[in-house]
Amino acid sequence: MTVLITGSGLIGTQIAKHFVEDGERTIVYDIAPQLQPMSELIDLSKIKVVRGDVLDFPNLASTLKENSVDRLVHTAALLPGGLMKNLYNGTRVNTDGTLNVLEAMRLAGAKRLVYTSTVGVYAKEGGPGEYFDEEISPTKPVSLYGATKLMSEYIGTNYAKTYGIDFRVVRFANIIGPWSGDIQTGTGGFVKQLLEGALSGKETHIPNPYPMVLEAEWVYSKDAAHAVHLLMNKEQLLSNVFNVGTGKITSAQEIISSIQKIVPGARLTLGSAKPMAVKPMSIDRAMKELSWSPKYDIGAMVKDMIEWYRSKSHHTV
Ligand SMILES: NC(=O)c1ccc[n+]([C@@H]2O[C@H](COP(=O)([O-])OP(=O)(O)OC[C@H]3O[C@@H](n4cnc5c(N)ncnc54)[C@H](O)[C@@H]3O)[C@@H](O)[C@H]2O)c1
Repeated sequence: MTVLITGSGLIGTQIAKHFVEDGERTIVYDIAPQLQPMSELIDLSKIKVVRGDVLDFPNLASTLKENSVDRLVHTAALLPGGLMKNLYNGTRVNTDGTLNVLEAMRLAGAKRLVYTSTVGVYAKEGGPGEYFDEEISPTKPVSLYGATKLMSEYIGTNYAKTYGIDFRVVRFANIIGPWSGDIQTGTGGFVKQLLEGALSGKETHIPNPYPMVLEAEWVYSKDAAHAVHLLMNKEQLLSNVFNVGTGKITSAQEIISSIQKIVPGARLTLGSAKPMAVKPMSIDRAMKELSWSPKYDIGAMVKDMIEWYRSKSHHTV
């Protein structure tokens, strides 16, 4: 059996690691694979790296066919920052890209797809209850990015109904984790700026923090990849959409305090900004059906990332 992961960035590389550990033939398909950052997380000799665009349908379809790919994880996408720089290209990558992946699967006879969606598909007002719930919370994305991710969920659901592709979805909270490559998100970039600032020993002031980071739900890339791996390997499921977060909202100040616990005296300050009202996702379904739970709370995420930075000797403290 061969697994193919589109996108080999922050989360795609962590996901690939799990399949390599299982001894599965693992291919990553990325328009611009970042080999140095990837090599810090995974033994590149154990995976096949295909440089390719999800919009290049012939290349994608022949990659699946020639390698007898039967299971895929689709992470390749432009995140909000990248999408808003080029609406035409970003919208196409995120929607046509998913359509191409599913059509290539149909032609190659591939069976199962785990699609990486986002908390951003939920309506901001959030509907009833304290948590975003996969079953009852309304989906009404505020951003074009969220809309492209929801559209992809619809395309997948219809490929499942019409062609029998086993389509599964994870809706991630904001992800952070070890990754020295490009960070496409303002949220991930914010935490990186704080950590690097603390480790450099320099005073770091972020004058206009992005409102979304002031109150946010985070999930560690290792926990997120673990959930995808469990979801891929589970044969029978009651549901096909799973929230993957921590079920908790964390303030930016709590992140700063967690960093200062490990790097005492770190001088990290923020300008004033109004946080956006957000609610956390319920992660009960993933806990029950996948026997998954997040191992990292915000303190553990920060600790692991600081250890990783230090082990790479990027910074001396
Ligand atoms: N990072 C987060 O906070 C977050 C939160 C929720 C959901 N997600 C979803 O998780 C997935 C992965 O996010 P990430 O943080 O690993 O992003 P990332 O930017 O680190 O990785 C995405 C990868 O996709 C590749 N890519 C972009 N356009 C491509 C194309 N046309 N063809 C092939 N490859 C292409 C990029 O080169 C990159 O390596 C995305 O689908 C994203 O929507 C991420």
